[in-house]
Amino acid sequence: MKLFIQTMGCAMNERDSAHIIAELSQKKHYTLTDNAKEADLILINTCSVREKPEKKLFSEIGQFAKEKKAGAKIGICGCTASHLGEEIIKKAPSVDFVLGARNVSKITQVLERPKAVEVDINYDDSTYVFASPQTMGIKATLNISIGCDKKCSYCIVPFTRGREISIPQDLLLREARRLVDSGVKELLLLGQNVNHYGVRFSTPHPKTNFADLLNNLSEIKGLYRIRFTSPHPLHMDDAFLHTFAQNPVIAKGIHIPLQSGSSRVLKMMKRGYDKAWYLDRIAKLKALLPDVGIGTDIIVGFPTESQADFKDTLEVLSLVEFDTLYSFVYSPRPHTSAYEYDKSWLIEPKLAKERLATLQNLHKQILRKKAQKEIGKCYEILVENNRDDEEHCFSEGRTSNNKLIKILGKKCPIGSIAQVKITKNEGGALMGEFVQELSLEQALKANTITHTAKPNKGESSVVAGVVC
Ligand code: 5AD
Ligand code: SF4
Repeated sequence: MKLFIQTMGCAMNERDSAHIIAELSQKKHYTLTDNAKEADLILINTCSVREKPEKKLFSEIGQFAKEKKAGAKIGICGCTASHLGEEIIKKAPSVDFVLGARNVSKITQVLERPKAVEVDINYDDSTYVFASPQTMGIKATLNISIGCDKKCSYCIVPFTRGREISIPQDLLLREARRLVDSGVKELLLLGQNVNHYGVRFSTPHPKTNFADLLNNLSEIKGLYRIRFTSPHPLHMDDAFLHTFAQNPVIAKGIHIPLQSGSSRVLKMMKRGYDKAWYLDRIAKLKALLPDVGIGTDIIVGFPTESQADFKDTLEVLSLVEFDTLYSFVYSPRPHTSAYEYDKSWLIEPKLAKERLATLQNLHKQILRKKAQKEIGKCYEILVENNRDDEEHCFSEGRTSNNKLIKILGKKCPIGSIAQVKITKNEGGALMGEFVQELSLEQALKANTITHTAKPNKGESSVVAGVVC
């Protein structure tokens, strides 16, 4: 039996698809194909955070229904499945089942039930043990919680993924050990609000928090790096920042969704923090870790956003100098509180698009400026890829602070840790020469406190990287 799966949206959806593939391959003997025409089962794992991908879903179903071989099934999974439920089957009768984002563990059951619709957002997947992926590579993701308890006024996720429940720590530690034993060097922890971990479990559980989880995971022998996405700025207290800075296994790149730089808009968005709080957290983080990599999400054109509000967003962008930016035009979503606003509060699409372009252009300038300062610096990368282009062969990997770097003229073993000196910046793409390979122990030392430079009272300052 052959499975074709198309995944749209966030890392959580990618992870859900990985679970589905593992379940179907181990319990139902499916093998993956990238050709929908030869598949016995076609799955579309959807995203409904913005309107566009949701709109595309029905034309895609139509296309797959035309192409599929006789008797092949079509299943719709993910956030749009949760959001539209049986409406999908009514509108597209070629669909055989609908499986919501909170219900992925039921994949083998719905397969057997014609026209099944499983979209219960109160269903508890948090203690379900999924089949193990067969090939893991050196990087793996681990879901640490399901759902989201926030009520950001623009966001449909609490409606599609339900309330937040943390996955028990013993399950996570067991799974992480298994992943590391199979060769995984870097773990990416996933959750809607990772630093809210431990607030609610579905079964009695000893008191814990995200910092505890990070520290416990970091004890696993052979694990080089832990990343996570996304922390909520509101829960970034000093204790969390210190754990982040001081634990050498935690990679020093962090995604901190800003959404808007205007305190007025943030209040309407119900984010629970203002511009000053966000900037204060960033200042603390940079005092602890001058080389920290910071990424963010920004929405422009939120209802009533004025030119002054937008300027605040540009100002935060300039002050923080984010290393990565995911930026979006506001998209009204049903079930959210912002959806109920007076339509006259909406921003003209043309203006919103202009603001998006202004924001992205400013970010490009910031990145160009920052990349120039990288020449001559030394980093450790976890080697992920070996490739060739027209000019040279190269190894590729990411630094602790999440920069993608090519080592020119060298192919290092996948999973090894290579030190590289930056020699070139081609339009923001960083390249360099191989210096030496490091052992895990040496590399971890490089990710601990190496100097103290103007810390706040009582704090030590940390730099990721070693002198080479
Ligand atoms: N419109 C535009 N962007 C949105 N996001 C979430 N909801 C919306 C929406 N209604 C963005 C946020 C979030 C990211 C995953 O998607 O920036 O952090
Ligand atoms: Fe959506 Fe806000 Fe929850 Fe993130 S924190 S998933 S933006 S409701």
